Amino acid sequence: MKGKLVIVMVGLPARGKSTMGRKLGRTLELDGIQVRIFNNGELRRKMEAGENSSSAEFFSPTNARGKEMREFISRTNIEAARTFLAEGGEVAILDASNVTRQRRRTIAEAFPYLPLCYIECVNADEEALEANLERKATLKEFCHLSPEQALESFLKRISYYESIYEPLDEEANRILVDSFDNCILQEQISEVLPYYDRIRDILTTRVVRNLFLVRHGETWYNLEDRIGGDSELTEKGREQANGLADHFATIRIPTIFTSNYVRTRQTAEPIAERQNQCSIIALPEFNEIHAGVCEGMTYEEIRHTMPHVAKARGPNKYRYIYPEGEGYITMEERVHRGLKKVFFLNNYDENIMIVGHRAVNRMILASFLSRQEAEIPYIYMPQDRYYHIQIDPHKRIFELIPYKSNPVATKW
Ligand code: F6P
Repeated sequence: MKGKLVIVMVGLPARGKSTMGRKLGRTLELDGIQVRIFNNGELRRKMEAGENSSSAEFFSPTNARGKEMREFISRTNIEAARTFLAEGGEVAILDASNVTRQRRRTIAEAFPYLPLCYIECVNADEEALEANLERKATLKEFCHLSPEQALESFLKRISYYESIYEPLDEEANRILVDSFDNCILQEQISEVLPYYDRIRDILTTRVVRNLFLVRHGETWYNLEDRIGGDSELTEKGREQANGLADHFATIRIPTIFTSNYVRTRQTAEPIAERQNQCSIIALPEFNEIHAGVCEGMTYEEIRHTMPHVAKARGPNKYRYIYPEGEGYITMEERVHRGLKKVFFLNNYDENIMIVGHRAVNRMILASFLSRQEAEIPYIYMPQDRYYHIQIDPHKRIFELIPYKSNPVATKW
């Protein structure tokens, strides 16, 4: 159903509001809907560059000057959204914490003849929240602080918001979303809302703009055909990492997700160095399959010294679990959890890069493809190519791209 709609994001800082807002905005836009996001944080950073508006005290409810400034920013965005909708816009997304009833009433009064839909984001996953806070502490607005000071300041800011948080109760249309699990926890809709079914779909579906899935470069263990361990890249592996860095130099990669192992970090570092601003986030969920008692052995050694392992694994590779280690089947849950973290932490940026391992990357790729489980442990995962994955309501693309050739395109 066509029409005009105001979406109001609600939630404490770092709960995934902007990520959800961007996901909604971008996907509705792909559907041909005129949509625009009005983000108070971005406007604040533009208007009041410098330390002042990023300090925790700026957000204190008892700081009259800060409060006035924040309300001014909110009114400016509300006005801009009104103009946008009056000039043909269809969906305006007001992206801010909007935690007080007073603020929400002001918004409602500004759009007396339009339906409003409040989307409140929560995230009950402590680990993902912590990782998000750490990521936020590295943002430009905290660059004058040490990482510890930045984190402390951000936590203080959150506590100020917590102290004034008022639950949604009088708002007619509201959805409570778990932004980490991409699921709707509660909803109350009291009128027919335009685009509502689509919005529900988008909130609960994973959309992947450009995911670059890279396997680490060659390691000393790879040379000897040894599995597991934490070995470093060989000279050839470093060349591969530099090749990737050249290849991606014209493609903006704001974050690279790796495992905790040195080989993924050594592959990611040259890529990050060639970028304007790029952070590397290591996730234990992307560590390679743990081969238990076989860690550090070659496949040949396993065949000779533990023939029962080779015999049992061969016909049932997906379900086989190494003694004292893992199997593809037991990695599934953690790898999916890692992916959720990636989508939560990357701020719905267009481009995401994951530098992983052979088995882990197979699991990641398999989570997007409908493959029989028996096929998954045999998915081709070379070290001189990467997978480029795109999934949105209009396309599903999986391309294997050699990175010594020219970059794919510079439009990203
Ligand atoms: O050889 C590299 C490696 O990443 C090992 O660490 C890991 O055990 C193996 O590949 C996974 O591949 P497969 O399941 O085919 O043995």
